[in-house]
Amino acid sequence: MIIEELKLHDFRNYGELTLHPHPGVNLLFGQNGSGKTNLLEAVHYCALGRSHRTSQDKEVVRKGAMMSAVGVLVRKQSGRCDVAVKLTPGENRKKQVFLDRKRAPRLSDMMGRLQCVIFSPEDLMLVKEGPAIRRRYLDMLLSQLSTGYFVALQQYSKALEQRNALLREAKKGRNVESVMLEAFEDAMAAPCQTIIPMRRKILAQVAAIAGEKYASISGRPGEVFGMSYECCMQENGDIAAAMKQQWMKSRRDDMFRGSTSFGIHREDIALTLSGREMKLFASQGQIRTAALSMKLAQLEVYRRVTGETPVLLLDDVMSELDMTRRTRLLQEISGVQTFVTCTDESDLDGCHDRRSYRVSTLPDGMASITETSSGTPVAAKRIIEDPDFT
Ligand SMILES: Nc1ncnc2c1ncn2[C@@H]1O[C@H](COP(=O)(O)OP(=O)(O)O)[C@@H](O)[C@H]1O
Ligand SMILES: [Mg+2]
Repeated sequence: MIIEELKLHDFRNYGELTLHPHPGVNLLFGQNGSGKTNLLEAVHYCALGRSHRTSQDKEVVRKGAMMSAVGVLVRKQSGRCDVAVKLTPGENRKKQVFLDRKRAPRLSDMMGRLQCVIFSPEDLMLVKEGPAIRRRYLDMLLSQLSTGYFVALQQYSKALEQRNALLREAKKGRNVESVMLEAFEDAMAAPCQTIIPMRRKILAQVAAIAGEKYASISGRPGEVFGMSYECCMQENGDIAAAMKQQWMKSRRDDMFRGSTSFGIHREDIALTLSGREMKLFASQGQIRTAALSMKLAQLEVYRRVTGETPVLLLDDVMSELDMTRRTRLLQEISGVQTFVTCTDESDLDGCHDRRSYRVSTLPDGMASITETSSGTPVAAKRIIEDPDFT
């Protein structure tokens, strides 16, 4: 898939922007703080309805503005589609999604219209940090592939939150009825029947591809990168019944802790290099290659499952890679529409099928984008004319 048009309205330090990106590599370069990552974040919003770096929508609304909107026109094999997200954090309906210019009832309706994979220096945490970040990787991956997964995850999280609220009450010594806990456990168990088999299946696919990517980027066939699903259930059987039983068993302990100790919100992905746990010994270079392999595997899985190639967002990663890895990465991304941010235009000297944009800051603090080959500023005219939209 190709983003033919990207539109921003009062998003971060952008006022109005319309960009018609290149189908290959789009290089965004400029000083720190100029607005490069903000642009990638806008693309991420159009794919997942949320930021990759904050859970607070209000942070992305331009200072002094009441609302933000971002939109893309995407070309796929099946035709074109228009996806836009409008954020009004001050109002009741905080987030609205527009598909082909019509308001969609649910956020989940937008999933899969635009697919993107983002890779940034923070992704090194995929290897170094605790399980939450790896679960997020898995959830982002599956949510973009399956609305059913996204909805199941929302249901589970809501019920979990409710069960935890009761457990906190119990911890404070208040009386909590078992039947109430059981109701939330039932609500948590049902979506697990969707989530667990999907996590299991996709992780097997991702692991196989990530292993190949690691070998090709590192150039060291002796180093075998492994990913495996650490599921809270041993077998697929009757998942819901088995989980309910486990929650019932752990009720007393959970009341004492004030939180739910068992469930899919505690799962993890084990990452290994030639069988050894990476977190314990891997070098910075190995960690970087592993994280990049996981992201490229995500991209390849989308391609195989949907027949469409997602858009790739590479945020400040070029300068972190040595020349060999950079060249291999550029080979990997040929044929993929990519947005790359760098501080220096020369970071991408080896790549010819590209368009370069200089991102700079105007005296009033707003971002300005200039295409460097033509020297023309990118349009700043009002682009979202739809009265319902703005
Ligand atoms: N809500 C906002 N309104 C206006 N400006 C913002 C907002 N959020 C961030 N910024 C500005 O965006 C800039 C950072 O942009 P970013 O894309 O992260 O920079 P970089 O080019 O280094 O990736 C900073 O100058 C910051 O002040
Ligand atoms: Mg940045």
